[in-house]
Amino acid sequence: MAKYVAAIDQGTTSSRCMIFNHAGEPVSSSQMEHEQIYPKPGWVEHDPIEIWSRTKDVIHDAMEKAGLIASDIAAIGVTNQRETTVVWDKNTGQPYYNAIVWQDTRTDKICDELMGDEGQDRLREQTGLPLATYFSGPKIKWILDNVEGVREAAMRGDAIFGNMDTWVIWKLTGGINGGAHVTDVTNASRTMLMNLEGTQWNDDICELMDVPRKMLPTIRPSSDPEVYGYTANNGPFGGKIPVCGDLGDQQAATVGQTCFSVGEAKNTYGTGCFMLLNTGTEIVQSKNGLLTTPCYKFGNEPTVYALEGSIAIAGAVVQWLRDQMRLINTAADVENLARMVEDNGGMYFVPAFSGLFAPYWKSDARGAIVGMTRYLTRGHFARAALEAVAYQTREVLDAMEADSGVKLQALKVDGGMVANELLMQYQADVLGVPVTRPKVAESTALGAAYAAGLAVGFWKNTNEMRQNWGIDKTWEPNDDETPRVDNYKMWKKAVTRTFDWVE
Ligand code: G3P
Repeated sequence: MAKYVAAIDQGTTSSRCMIFNHAGEPVSSSQMEHEQIYPKPGWVEHDPIEIWSRTKDVIHDAMEKAGLIASDIAAIGVTNQRETTVVWDKNTGQPYYNAIVWQDTRTDKICDELMGDEGQDRLREQTGLPLATYFSGPKIKWILDNVEGVREAAMRGDAIFGNMDTWVIWKLTGGINGGAHVTDVTNASRTMLMNLEGTQWNDDICELMDVPRKMLPTIRPSSDPEVYGYTANNGPFGGKIPVCGDLGDQQAATVGQTCFSVGEAKNTYGTGCFMLLNTGTEIVQSKNGLLTTPCYKFGNEPTVYALEGSIAIAGAVVQWLRDQMRLINTAADVENLARMVEDNGGMYFVPAFSGLFAPYWKSDARGAIVGMTRYLTRGHFARAALEAVAYQTREVLDAMEADSGVKLQALKVDGGMVANELLMQYQADVLGVPVTRPKVAESTALGAAYAAGLAVGFWKNTNEMRQNWGIDKTWEPNDDETPRVDNYKMWKKAVTRTFDWVE
């Protein structure tokens, strides 16, 4: 009897393989970064071949570390950076162009054109999304319009599209030798080409964006007892295992945090920061700049939806301080640097590197640092960068409470940045509610494992998963209201300084 489930988390900055036991505990993990390619300001790309190669490496490594073979693994779940777009030749397996990453803003003109006279919310009712550079549909259009020969190849049925889940699953299940060309409802929705209601591709929107239907993958449940396909004997797992779980990373984290009831929410601090609130089988349209998105679909059960507050830049700001500003040597150093100062010294840093996402949706915003005086030090820089993550989270939480009419009692958090104690305390202070970190902070990978394990009966139901969830630490808000009142007010003022920057 196989005792474990494997999860592959193909994220924005790294790929990871984690193996979990029935108690939802990680027994092995391996992670590798890949190159971030910035050809022009506002453009962000990844090399899909490099990503697949890293994915294979982390699978080998995780299996080897735990001394496991394919027959020890009951099922595989895939989770991924959402929206990032690859178009490849299904006969050769070669991408026609680098993957265009979700943060990339090159499609702003395309989005403006698509708005026409009807504006940014033209497709909101069908898709739950505002027209913004974030989503895949306009990125596919850009590749079809700008890379020679791709449109013709797509018309012939040779060029196929996928987000990173589709790319990894296609590769895992055989690639050019009959790999499964599939996605799940959560990923499909982020193309902006899928109807929320009924979770099928929308022909009119495909036509509007000039995307041939035949290049799109088949939309399947996030946890699929019919399984998407099996790993090949000569693949990285070295044997035949069902691949049967697929969730966008933020939805996967919601599952990993076991937010299965209406009104339960989580916030994941990764490259970006994403808060999702389970709204059950009801499609709740936002009036306050949030997205409406599928949360998961388990087998034949109805799709469960969520409201989402998407923040483009969170951990990415720390990476930028490390790699481009060279202010710190490792991401973890940011906490010590920020602790060198008592407060932000009046400095506010709005990292609108990819424009502003929720609740503003302004592709033409760009980052700003305001309130600078000669008093400021490197410590204030680090502090202001961390505070920015906390204020942005407050903005989406306020929007969520306004949309749902529910006041959140506590926030479940996860992702890499929750190791940062200073940030977590400040987050509680800015929100005025407790912030809770679970025992397994790798909720994204755990959620993908749950989806796959559920499909093969490794976990019987969501109650079994709930029993695995436990608290590691809770941060209570400080009585001093300065962060949530005065500082937040200054943050709101600072944000307005980034608007309408790109001419
Ligand atoms: O929508 C983008 C999101 O899926 C990226 O997640 O974890 O790489 O910040 P992450």
